[in-house]
Amino acid sequence: MKVKILRRQSAASEPYWETFEYDGPAENSVAGVLDYINYHDDIKNDEGENTARIGWECSCLQGVCGACAMVINGVPALACETFLKDLKSDTLELRPLSKFPAVRDLMTDRSLIHENLTKTNVYIGEYNPSSDKDHAHQYTAAKCLKCGLCLEVCPNYVNGKNFFGAVFANDCYLVASRNKNKAQEIKKNYAKHFGSGCSKSLSCMDVCPMNIPTIASMAKLNRSE
Ligand code: FES
Repeated sequence: MKVKILRRQSAASEPYWETFEYDGPAENSVAGVLDYINYHDDIKNDEGENTARIGWECSCLQGVCGACAMVINGVPALACETFLKDLKSDTLELRPLSKFPAVRDLMTDRSLIHENLTKTNVYIGEYNPSSDKDHAHQYTAAKCLKCGLCLEVCPNYVNGKNFFGAVFANDCYLVASRNKNKAQEIKKNYAKHFGSGCSKSLSCMDVCPMNIPTIASMAKLNRSE
């Protein structure tokens, strides 16, 4: 299988394509393919030239940390949860997420996601016990990995400076419903950094690896007092 990767040596350098020949197990995930290529002491591209190890991020390799988010054959997805057998293609094309500053190869800097949550006070702090009515959705919304896939696919998310995207909407719901003292402040920030910019494409829900129904978070937050 040919594996085509959009690479760059550093944040400041120009991107370029490099292709590899993958002859490892067909059962592998995309993360497994990257590991397989990187494992060799001498890494060669498909023209037989020595090349540098491919930079990419991972921690859990089981869909829990969100670090391995990238664009796989044109679709934003987690590398450790995407398996070759499901791609229905005999080539693999990997790109870094395009909505975040480049670091190297498939690595990007997603720290803005956390910075936006912190500066708008979107963290639970002291909270009230959950009501039975909301508990199931709170549990689901809290599964957000902060991987950035929802932002990559969102037509309204550009640079994260004003519109903060679905990751922000879900956490706003979670905080406002668990800490009544903060609810009004959070609702104001939600309106400013999400409600006024969301065009409801809902593409965020198509790519969320945790299947979080963001539209339910939006509806619950809009209905709350
Ligand atoms: S490595 Fe943790 S989600 Fe893929």
